[in-house]
Amino acid sequence: MKEIKKIGVMTSGGDSPGMNAAIRSVVRTCAFYKIECAGIYRGYEGMIEGDFIELNARSVKGIINKGGTFLKSARSKAFRTKEGRQEAYKQLKKANIDALVVIGGDGSFTGGLVFNQEFDFPVMGIPGTIDNDIAGTSHTLGYDTTLNTVVDVIDKIRDTASSHNRLFFVEVMGRDVGHIALNVGVGAGAEEILIPEEDLGLERLLESLRRSKESGKSSSIVIVAEGDKTGKNVFELKDYVEENLPEYEVRVSVLGHMQRGGSPSCFDRVLASRMGVKAVESLLDGKSNLMVGLINDKITVTPLEKAIKGQSKINKELIRVSDIMSI
Ligand code: F6P
Repeated sequence: MKEIKKIGVMTSGGDSPGMNAAIRSVVRTCAFYKIECAGIYRGYEGMIEGDFIELNARSVKGIINKGGTFLKSARSKAFRTKEGRQEAYKQLKKANIDALVVIGGDGSFTGGLVFNQEFDFPVMGIPGTIDNDIAGTSHTLGYDTTLNTVVDVIDKIRDTASSHNRLFFVEVMGRDVGHIALNVGVGAGAEEILIPEEDLGLERLLESLRRSKESGKSSSIVIVAEGDKTGKNVFELKDYVEENLPEYEVRVSVLGHMQRGGSPSCFDRVLASRMGVKAVESLLDGKSNLMVGLINDKITVTPLEKAIKGQSKINKELIRVSDIMSI
């Protein structure tokens, strides 16, 4: 096996708070072990174009608290082609990069795995996505920050909802999973939470809202995960409730990309720092095709293949807690 003298680090897919902190950790761990580190701009796109920057311990000063990713991120179509990957390999070789740390989600890991299989190139993954939809870790980077950001916004929506005795549907991100919705729903005291993993049905929603009114609640918040399975989008849900329960005045708030921005929480900064160290040390130990994760507060590694194919399960206990709390 070839000795690793230089590691390339990149961020890929949707950005998430904590990515900068993870880049910083990778760069400084390389410096600690006296090996070189290169940043790859715009994920696989930049890799194909050879858009690299030499990084040292001082190049990553002042970024631990910054949201987004200074290396930028992209979802690359070209890397899905054999020619694209061939070109990327050529560029890495030209820059003397011996191994890769990919910070991103399952799409980014799939790219890394294919690349490893084709070119026998060492790859380690760090899970960076607000959705928390990756198996092999209880937390992905950015997820905790997003929960805090969203809870904060829902608290504000609650102020205006209660001032006008209104019902708010608040749509949150999460792609096909309901981790964000379920946790912010409990954290912000929502009356109902609609997630893809549990289709409660529209009748149950109406029933719950009827009960809310009868129990004397003057305002309500319903959290809707963007991937929910009601078959109606959040605006159609508003119309549906207004038609069936005219006593409700309904408003919709789609939170959108503000959920992905902002300074990472302390939890995400610490997690990013731990994951970066483990990713570099694993490569230096001759390991590859693994994703660094957090399980029971221990930093662990999981085969990339398992992380991609496995499912991150929602915590069903939270559904029960939410039901009890929203009585
Ligand atoms: O995966 C992160 C995420 O923010 C999802 O929650 C959301 O569905 C998606 O990315 C949005 O993607 P884009 O920024 O490309 O619109």
